[in-house]
Amino acid sequence: MSRAAPATVLVLEPIPENLLREPVDYLFAEHYRQRQVLAALDDFLDRAYFERELTPEWQDVLGTVVGYLEVEFPLHIADEDMDVFPALRRACEGDAGTAAVLQQLSNEHKDEPAELKALIGGLKQLLVGAKLPDSVAYLNRTLRFVEMQRHHLIWENNVVLPLARRKLSTEEMQKIGTRMAKRRNLSIPD
Ligand SMILES: [Fe+2]
Ligand SMILES: [Fe+2]
Repeated sequence: MSRAAPATVLVLEPIPENLLREPVDYLFAEHYRQRQVLAALDDFLDRAYFERELTPEWQDVLGTVVGYLEVEFPLHIADEDMDVFPALRRACEGDAGTAAVLQQLSNEHKDEPAELKALIGGLKQLLVGAKLPDSVAYLNRTLRFVEMQRHHLIWENNVVLPLARRKLSTEEMQKIGTRMAKRRNLSIPD
């Protein structure tokens, strides 16, 4: 069966500020945007072997991907590392299974800055029409990144966020939402 033609548009809907009142919902919405970015990268990688010159449409898509990865993705990692994971560790003290999952996800976060730097650096080169020094290595590394992120999202969406919904108190959720808002220079609307 042939693959569907890749979409050459990527629109990342801003998440309504109101959702900061419900941090778990906000994080689910953010994960949805991450899946859009990963799908765009997948499509691009599929074509990159065959088509070296970026069309204006692909330039737009990759520009959006770079903007997202540089600005919004690190904020999301901070939301999890600084707020959600520590709150869950406290709420699930003594639960070795949860501690192990959170440790694994934190470890994956630690690898992300180096991977992001390589990924973004390559995309920026492509966007100015430069050739990558080793395009096969770059594509393989990016494919691994995409695969790893998808796996990471499965654990967060199916284990961590549902657990946070069950275990974190209303007060804890409010604190987390306020900190997430501050991280974005926003205040939660009244
Ligand atoms: Fe996440
Ligand atoms: Fe994460």
